[in-house]
Amino acid sequence: MDRLEWSSVELLEREPGLEPLIASGVRCHGGFDADGRYRSPRTSHRMPAIAAWQARLATDGHALLSIPDSLLPPHHPNVAQARLLLLEGVREPIVRALTMISIVEGFGAIIRDVPVPDLASLVREPIEGTALAHLSGGLFEAHARDEAGHKDEGGHKQMWEAARDLALDSPKIPSDILMRMMGGARARTRRERLFPRLDETLEDMLATMVNVLVIEVFARGTFDWGETLLSDPEISARPKEAGAMVGYIRADEAPHVEYLRTALSEVRARTLRTVDGGDGELLEGRIVVDALLHRALEFTTRQRPQEQRNATRTSITSSLEKVADAARVRSLLERFDALETPFSPSEKTGFEAAE
Ligand SMILES: [Fe+2]
Ligand SMILES: [Fe+2]
Repeated sequence: MDRLEWSSVELLEREPGLEPLIASGVRCHGGFDADGRYRSPRTSHRMPAIAAWQARLATDGHALLSIPDSLLPPHHPNVAQARLLLLEGVREPIVRALTMISIVEGFGAIIRDVPVPDLASLVREPIEGTALAHLSGGLFEAHARDEAGHKDEGGHKQMWEAARDLALDSPKIPSDILMRMMGGARARTRRERLFPRLDETLEDMLATMVNVLVIEVFARGTFDWGETLLSDPEISARPKEAGAMVGYIRADEAPHVEYLRTALSEVRARTLRTVDGGDGELLEGRIVVDALLHRALEFTTRQRPQEQRNATRTSITSSLEKVADAARVRSLLERFDALETPFSPSEKTGFEAAE
């Protein structure tokens, strides 16, 4: 069997001898090998480690969970809508959307602050040689560094900013973006406990992992959107470089989706002790993970697309009001709506809600 135990130093190790990636003057993580191929950071041991944990899961007869593509809502605004706005000189909604993506990437750093409980005592079966046992031993830290950068090296936050600035020629950034995002986050109610019998730190950690996994999987749509839009010479000042930058970020995301779904599958294959303790009081990991996934997917496929549409509309109207008359605003909104990708959320998420 392949190696299942790795130190955090190994999981965080960088491939030596790469030509660095410089984005808008910022040295970013990752780099190019002798053949000019882009290599993601901290993957030389992390990828084989994840592959070994996945192989072990399969050997033990357990499924690797996956989120079906059919659930993914289309990116809003879609490429045609974004092109329309940019060609009409309405840049703010797109500058806003790209800046929000970079901010969300930077928020990814919170994963390193997620408290990890004493898993060996809360999980009935052994956890040695699993991704689960390595979360606080390098996996969360590597993820945080990839998203937000580390020390003097940029990560995805800086790379998205660079892609935006390359394509749209360093646009003026609206000053209220962060404030509006925080407002939206505050408006959402605090995450409710689904399993009060479970150790709170454990439920919180699993809920965060599930939410981040869902964001990571849905981000695939964002990457396709960003790559297509920013590589379009009609609207992009530097189509080649801007599109390539999004491609590098996309490549770096693979280990995030893979380690999260591996660790969550390992929980699904085990039983969890409740706070009342004792082997008489157990909860199937599958029930817990599936209920958390169900909740996160319901939100992302139903509520979030609506919120996004409202936010874009507000941004279009407010940026147009300053420069155009009411008739032009109406006409542009009509053309914008006509390009909308139809989407109705799937009836079922494929995961069972908690009773
Ligand atoms: Fe990222
Ligand atoms: Fe990520």
